[in-house]
Amino acid sequence: RFPPIIAPSVLSADFSRMAEEVAAVEAGGAEWLHLDVMDGHFVPNLTFGAPLVSALRPKSKMVFDVHLMVAPVDPYIEMFAKAGADHIHVHIEAGPHTHRTLQHIRACGVKAGIAICPATPPEALGEVLDLVDIILVMTVNPGFGGQKFLDSQLPKIRTLRRMADATGRDIRIGVDGGVNVETTPRATEAGADMLVAGTSVYGQPDYRQAIAALRDAARP
Ligand code: DX5
Ligand code: ZN
Repeated sequence: RFPPIIAPSVLSADFSRMAEEVAAVEAGGAEWLHLDVMDGHFVPNLTFGAPLVSALRPKSKMVFDVHLMVAPVDPYIEMFAKAGADHIHVHIEAGPHTHRTLQHIRACGVKAGIAICPATPPEALGEVLDLVDIILVMTVNPGFGGQKFLDSQLPKIRTLRRMADATGRDIRIGVDGGVNVETTPRATEAGADMLVAGTSVYGQPDYRQAIAALRDAARP
């Protein structure tokens, strides 16, 4: 699982040139594209919905990694699957029936991700691990790009790495929020093998260089 997958987040892209911005990170070596969907309710911000995912789908071969910061989320799963999401992340905090939601995601033929906020302990994922392909550890409180990486989440990454490995299945652990060349070594040493990067890619002049710098900063 080394080097880690790099997933630039379009949240920090120029929205007036979205297709070009997506093509630019793909040309720059990104494997996954992270799409942050916010509902103004689960998180205090709004972004975009499934129409952006379907509009971008024919323009890119990257894996579309859709992060739903939405509650309730169940009414939207099928919509994002049909729009072309390869992965759908839902939050463990988004409702009482995450188990059913994850089954639903898989039934749509999409890989299931579970996102976990800074305030939630890792043990909260224990009963759903058999239904997830990816764990997304939030290293900021979700809602905005450009926030500071919370080092307090590093022990959680370690614990989840152990829990994930104990299943005997290949579960990726992503980190989302404040990922840059300074924080990447700590996140990857703790066990992260996927890096979501908004500002540290789209805020840089050369996307290819920024993606390579993150990969170089990773530690096994
Ligand atoms: C935050 C989003 C992140 C965001 C990360 O709520 O889930 O994916 O784009 O942005 P940076 O990398 O700038 O912290
Ligand atoms: Zn995200």
